[in-house]
Amino acid sequence: MAHLFNRNIVLGVTGGIAAYKSAELVRQLQELGADVRVIMTRGAREFITPLTLQALSGRPVHTELLDPDAELGMGHIELARWADLLLIAPATADLLARLAAGRADDLLTTVALATAAPRLLAPAMNQQMWRDPATTANVATLTERGFHMIGPAAGEQACGDIGPGRMEQPAVIAQAAAALFSSGLLAGRRVLITAGPTREALDPVRYLSNHSSGKMGFALAQAATDAGAHTTLVSGPVHLSTPDHVHRIDVQSAEDMLRECLALAPSCDIFIACAAVADYRPADVAAQKIKKGAERITLELQRNPDILATVSASPGAPFTVGFAAETNDVLTYARGKLEHKGLDMIVANDVSNTAIGFNSEHNAVTVLWRSGSRQLEQASKSVIARELIALIAAQLDSNHD
Ligand code: CTP
Repeated sequence: MAHLFNRNIVLGVTGGIAAYKSAELVRQLQELGADVRVIMTRGAREFITPLTLQALSGRPVHTELLDPDAELGMGHIELARWADLLLIAPATADLLARLAAGRADDLLTTVALATAAPRLLAPAMNQQMWRDPATTANVATLTERGFHMIGPAAGEQACGDIGPGRMEQPAVIAQAAAALFSSGLLAGRRVLITAGPTREALDPVRYLSNHSSGKMGFALAQAATDAGAHTTLVSGPVHLSTPDHVHRIDVQSAEDMLRECLALAPSCDIFIACAAVADYRPADVAAQKIKKGAERITLELQRNPDILATVSASPGAPFTVGFAAETNDVLTYARGKLEHKGLDMIVANDVSNTAIGFNSEHNAVTVLWRSGSRQLEQASKSVIARELIALIAAQLDSNHD
């Protein structure tokens, strides 16, 4: 069954009688595992109080676009980036019209324009308003622009009319939200992903490592699984929970990681090297704790194997994707790595930008393959991961054509 674990959902509530059902919708989304933040329009607040949705979501409700205090907490751009999905339920006829016109005249419509996440609308209005050609045209425009729709359902309405226009049931909307994350693009494929840092032992209590959080690799594991893949994650030490249905193998050093990858890669269709592998390890590991003594000591380091290059050069190598973290000449270095490591694809990011990359919730990358490239604008790591998986699936299919 589809779920929403590790998903951030911004729920927009607009001013219709169905707004009371949004309280139940918050619960349904949470039961599927989502973290929910609510935006209410002025109209919505005529039907249900922010306090109700605040208590249910466990988060302050966002209402104003130009409120300095609110912007200090989580401003509209942060909200737009935080979202893995923008769900608007109920979506009134007026909201559909404002979205279709590209308006940004309140917090909700601004976030709808500013987010790179998918957008799902659950329309709710009087049946005559739903049937009006203006609404029909707005829905067609929004669908054309990639908005997803759920409902409306038909039946008896609050105003006494009978016909289409009732907001879908909260459980149905929550399932539709979850289904958006399961694309089937990699159905039946086997995907191997490395993530996190490696630890290179110096002695029984010390090691060399780096600040990689593992978030990008874990987001990729989630996105691959959502796309229908059997996913194995070979991870260095991180503080992250394993996405559902992902097989995780914990390792410490680069050599451990290489061993696991070489054992698994031959049976995989795709290998994604997202780990921040230590390039060097101490040449000798002391059997006992090194005691302090001299003012200065010298550490001798030994080059670690390059896991990515080794897998890509192995017989029957899977479709191989590497990452390139660079501070300058990003695309030149990335294309060089694509060539000399013999990769099918490389994901380049500019680590001189501290808003993205290591430890951040966000990323922005340029993806290169032999015959093309694509820039993925700054977004949450789960949005970037989903886009990357779609690009990998497309290239994998075109390689097989
Ligand atoms: N990588 C790997 N094994 C290593 C080092 C890196 O599998 N021992 C992989 C990383 O997971 C990443 C890619 O190689 O996908 C690029 O790593 P990066 O450190 O950016 O590049 P390097 O090849 O190590 O080159 P340099 O450090 O000189 O930039």
